[in-house]
Amino acid sequence: MTLGDLVRERAIVVCTGTGGVGKTTTAAALALGAAREGRRAVVVTIDPARRLADTLGIGSLSNVATRIDGDWPGELWALMLDTESTFDALVSTYAADDEQATRIVANRFYRNIAGALSGTQEYMAGEKLYELHESGAFDVVVVDTPPTRRALDFLDASRRLSRFLDHRLYRTLVAPTRGYLRAVNMAAQGFLRTAGKLVGTEVIDDALAFFAAFDGMEEGFRQRSAKVQALLADGVTAYVLVASPRADTVAEASYFADRLRANGITVGALVVNRLHPRFGDASSAQARASARSAGGDLACLYDNLADLSAVAEGEEAHLAGLLPDVDDAPVVRVPLLEREVHDLSALAEVADHLLAH
Ligand SMILES: Nc1ncnc2c1ncn2[C@@H]1O[C@H](COP(=O)(O)OP(=O)(O)OP(=O)(O)O)[C@@H](O)[C@H]1O
Ligand SMILES: [Mg+2]
Repeated sequence: MTLGDLVRERAIVVCTGTGGVGKTTTAAALALGAAREGRRAVVVTIDPARRLADTLGIGSLSNVATRIDGDWPGELWALMLDTESTFDALVSTYAADDEQATRIVANRFYRNIAGALSGTQEYMAGEKLYELHESGAFDVVVVDTPPTRRALDFLDASRRLSRFLDHRLYRTLVAPTRGYLRAVNMAAQGFLRTAGKLVGTEVIDDALAFFAAFDGMEEGFRQRSAKVQALLADGVTAYVLVASPRADTVAEASYFADRLRANGITVGALVVNRLHPRFGDASSAQARASARSAGGDLACLYDNLADLSAVAEGEEAHLAGLLPDVDDAPVVRVPLLEREVHDLSALAEVADHLLAH
C-alpha cells in the first residue's frame, strides 16, 4: 500500500518522528493531497509553535477548524489543539447538567490540572482526533505530533487515565457516600500532597471541591477512553514515520519505530525528507576523478557534484540502517527543496513528491 493509498483510504493519518525532520510539513502536505483527491481533510497540530499556520501560509489557527480555500475538489481544514478548551468540552459532554459542568470548569484545581498535568496534552490529542473523526465532518484527520519523544504518549494516554480512575486513592476521594471528611484520610492526604507538588501549593480545598464536582463522571470518561484507544489501534488509522537522512535523526527514528511496534502498530510509510540530490549513477570517486582530469570551471562544477554525491551516498548509508525497523513499509523520498515551506505552492511541491507513486 503506497502513501497515496493511505491518504485516499484511511480515516486517520498520524505523522510522527523526531524534532525538525518535517512532520508539520508532511502532515499539511498529506492533508492537501487528500483534498486534491476530493476528500474532506483536516490537519491537526499538537505543536504549540505556529509552524502549521506558517506552513499553510495563513495567519493563525485555533481549536476550531479553519477552512483553507484553494483550487482542489475536496476540502482542506486546519486546527491547533488547545488542551484546555478540549478538556472543557469533554467535561460538558459528561457532566450530568450545566451546573455540574460550570462548577468543574470554574474550579481552580481543575484549571491547573487541565493545563499542567503531564500527559494531559497527549490525552487531549487522542480525544480531539476522536471527536473530529466522530463528527462526520471529515473523511480524513491528519495529525502532526509535537517535537518530543513523548509525542507518542497519546497512544496510551487514555489507558493511563483509566488506570488513574481505577486508582484506590482516587476512588477514596470520589466515593460518593464518603464526603469531605472521609476524603481527607491519610491516604488521600498523601495523594493530594503529590498533586499539590505537581500543580502548585494551596490547592487542597480546590482539589476536594473538584473531586466532589467530578463525582459520577468517571464512567463516561472511562468509556470514552476505551473508544479513543480502540480507534488509535484500528486499521482505519495509519502511522507515517518522518525521518531525515542524518545519523542522529535516523537513530531517533528507530526509537519511534520501536515505540510504535511496542504498541502493536506497524509503520504505514516511512518518509525520508530533505534528501540531497544524486547525480546519475556515478560514484563520488568517479566524479572526483573526472573533476581532476577536467580543467577550469568544469573542474569546479565536477568537484561540487562530487561533494554532493558523497553527501547523498552518506545519506543512503544512514538510511539503510533504518529500513529493517520499518519492515515492509513503503519508503517515500522527498528532496531538499530550494526554499522552505511557507506557502501553499511550496506545500503542493512537497505533496507532489510524497504522493508521486
Ligand atoms: N523538503 C524540504 N525542503 C526544504 N525545506 C523543508 C523541507 N521539509 C521541511 N522543510 C523546512 O524545514 C523546517 C522544519 O520543518 P517542519 O516544521 O515541518 O519540521 P517538524 O518535524 O514539524 O519540526 P518540529 O519537530 O520542530 O515540530 C521548516 O522551516 C520547513 O519549511
Ligand atoms: Mg512540527
